[in-house]
Amino acid sequence: MKAIICTKYGSPEVLEIHEVEKPSPRENELLIRVIATAVNSGDVRVRGLVVEGFMKFVMQLVMGFSKPKKPILGTVFSGIVESIGKNVVSFKTGDRVFGMTGFQFGTYAEYLTIGEKSAVTPMPQNANFEEAVSLIFGGQTAIYFLEKAKIQERKNPKVLIIGSTGAVGTSAVQIADFYGALVSAVCSSRGETLMKELGFSNVFMYDKEDFMQTNQRYDIIFDAVGKCDKQKIKTLLSTGGVFKSVEGLDVASETKEQLLFLKKLFEAGKLKAVIDKTYYIDEVVEAHRYVDSGRKKGNVILKIGKT
Ligand SMILES: NC(=O)c1ccc[n+]([C@@H]2O[C@H](COP(=O)([O-])OP(=O)(O)OC[C@H]3O[C@@H](n4cnc5c(N)ncnc54)[C@H](OP(=O)(O)O)[C@@H]3O)[C@@H](O)[C@H]2O)c1
Repeated sequence: MKAIICTKYGSPEVLEIHEVEKPSPRENELLIRVIATAVNSGDVRVRGLVVEGFMKFVMQLVMGFSKPKKPILGTVFSGIVESIGKNVVSFKTGDRVFGMTGFQFGTYAEYLTIGEKSAVTPMPQNANFEEAVSLIFGGQTAIYFLEKAKIQERKNPKVLIIGSTGAVGTSAVQIADFYGALVSAVCSSRGETLMKELGFSNVFMYDKEDFMQTNQRYDIIFDAVGKCDKQKIKTLLSTGGVFKSVEGLDVASETKEQLLFLKKLFEAGKLKAVIDKTYYIDEVVEAHRYVDSGRKKGNVILKIGKT
């Protein structure tokens, strides 16, 4: 099968398409023919080893010193179940599924295997493969941090999402809205139209105004891009308010429940897929260059297989 191999850490050109052995499913696993994956901020971080200070050493210890030990990058997928191991009971050949491999990586390939009990579920019924895969990375991260801020226990909380136009941010505003939050968003003027399309009008444009001047106070502030001054921003919290950030040592974990929640929201029309650009497998270098810019809006899709 074809797979994109990260031959060493470095610029997007380190990614090469190679012919590798097709995996076969163990007794509790599914073999999935991948239709689409996404190029996420996490993928370009790993490819370029973009980590500060001591954490770079820790990452190399875990991931490999001069190149990733797991050379096929990519953590999210949508695709079709090609075959199942003999003990699999909840999936069958031909099912349309989406999921996340997390630190196992391996989604930049024509086929992958994943355990039946891992983060894989049927896709939203009304989604195409590109839409389905776009929901996962930002969606599960937003769910993880907003739930840690106990959004589900608060009644109509005032929520400020900083960096509302990235993969995590576009999911966070929509998921907070689903929980009945009064959402304010911080993005650049380049993201204003997208925020309007998603139905959010309470927007601070950081390149035009200083949102710190607001006299609003928030029950939850979520920095979905990890760029704000933590001490300063906390002065905007209400009494009992909580600040969460994607930046730091807390890493969102992926679960089947998050996928089922995203599926439910998409099917109910409460969560829209935000796709900036779609590339084909042989355009992976360009796709990584674009995501490296840090300016993408929502998600960048990489088409792997045909439907
Ligand atoms: N801890 C975890 O478990 C975890 C999980 C997932 C992601 N992350 C991290 O979360 C961060 C965001 O991930 P992502 O996938 O959402 O990234 P992304 O999609 O690449 O984010 C890019 C977006 O951020 C906006 N942006 C850039 N600088 C900004 C600023 N100063 N203020 C507000 N918006 C700004 C950009 O728009 P403009 O250029 O127009 O402003 C662009 O739309 C990454 O650093 C990633 O590594 C952490």
